[in-house]
Amino acid sequence: MKIVIIGQGYVGLTISAFAGAFFDVVGFDNNQRIVDQLNSGISHIEGVDSSSISSLISQGRYRATSVGTDLADADIVVIAVPTPLTIDRKPDLTFIDAACRTIGENIAKPILVINESTSFPGTLRNYIKPAIEKYSSSPIAHAYAISPERVDPGRGDFNQKNTPRLFAGLTPEASTKTREFYSRFCDNLVEVSSPEVAEAAKLFENTFRQVNIALVNEFAQIAHSLGISVYETLDAANTKPYGFMKFTPSAGVGGHCIPVDPTYLAAVAEEHGAPATFIRRANEVNLEMSEYIVRRVCTDNDGNLQGKSVLVVGVAYKPNVADVRETAAELVIEHLRRKGAVVSWHDDVVGNWKGESSAPLQGADIAVVVTKHDGVDEKKILASAPYVFDTTGKVKGAKGL
Ligand SMILES: NC(=O)c1ccc[n+]([C@@H]2O[C@H](COP(=O)([O-])OP(=O)(O)OC[C@H]3O[C@@H](n4cnc5c(N)ncnc54)[C@H](O)[C@@H]3O)[C@@H](O)[C@H]2O)c1
Repeated sequence: MKIVIIGQGYVGLTISAFAGAFFDVVGFDNNQRIVDQLNSGISHIEGVDSSSISSLISQGRYRATSVGTDLADADIVVIAVPTPLTIDRKPDLTFIDAACRTIGENIAKPILVINESTSFPGTLRNYIKPAIEKYSSSPIAHAYAISPERVDPGRGDFNQKNTPRLFAGLTPEASTKTREFYSRFCDNLVEVSSPEVAEAAKLFENTFRQVNIALVNEFAQIAHSLGISVYETLDAANTKPYGFMKFTPSAGVGGHCIPVDPTYLAAVAEEHGAPATFIRRANEVNLEMSEYIVRRVCTDNDGNLQGKSVLVVGVAYKPNVADVRETAAELVIEHLRRKGAVVSWHDDVVGNWKGESSAPLQGADIAVVVTKHDGVDEKKILASAPYVFDTTGKVKGAKGL
């Protein structure tokens, strides 16, 4: 069987590496630089070792391409392309549409199409299937299924094999084929009654995190105003053995999922006349966190950041990855600069970002820790400035939430 995976980013390349052990995999990506890099055996994704890509290439089990006609003899095509928000924060399905075009224009026999990209309920049935049909030169009865991706890049304990995977086909035949495919490299497959349930479950999982993070971020502000430790209070609450799940405060949410997916759910809810008040407000609270943090830093520094050198420590959206998509550090830096601070940042995992390079971890008036990678020494952070504000709860001895 030949599997084509459209999109060779965090999701697509991770699947390629697992599926490559059992199938011939072609990774299709429209970014030629990524394709060339992958074909020379270099992975650009944390959690996918270059050695595993080189090994698959040398066994003839994997190659990357940006040529649409390479899809022609595929048996299964998996869609793993971005699903961001438009400038006015609405679901943006243009990447999905382009993937459907690639499939429609290049595949002339019935195959199984699986969508792994996150989107709102109804995307497979009402958007992907009609789009592929629109781009096909003649009617082809493809099988369609959804299996939302749950990968957490950089995570060691859960991976494609041991993370339960939801799936549903548009037809029983599509469900059966989808189970056969994933069961080769995933231990626990959970079939649900419709693609819409699988699509909604994925959005709800991430909305659950977004709302709880917003709640704990709001609570951090309440705890500070009461003069008590948010961390001690959360640890105390966490001694309850049931009915409580601990989330920790932060500078906000980042990455491609938590800041984006709940807005997909809110958009479809509002389209159907259902409320999405929690989701909308949670988003606002998380976005406002950066401003709150800068206010706290400013207050602690005589209410004036004008001309002060501020080092933001950690600009990746979470520890131990180089991913800066939707990172809260961006808003923290923006608010600091608005107050006249001279801002640089230190993050050797990210290295270069927005035309700037990681600055040395030293010599600032103020340091604000947004993300603490495991490899960054706590003592060095504390020594980098006379005043250190930590948003992570990991730098003991610093000021913080
Ligand atoms: N990153 C995660 O942790 C994660 C987890 C679960 C679900 N998801 C979802 O999976 C989907 C993909 O996310 P990702 O993080 O892998 O994105 P990514 O940006 O890392 O990778 C997407 C890749 O698709 C390529 N691409 C874009 N349009 C294309 C097209 N028309 N044809 C071929 N290639 C194209 C890009 O060049 C890029 O390499 C999104 O819907 C996302 O919400 C992501």
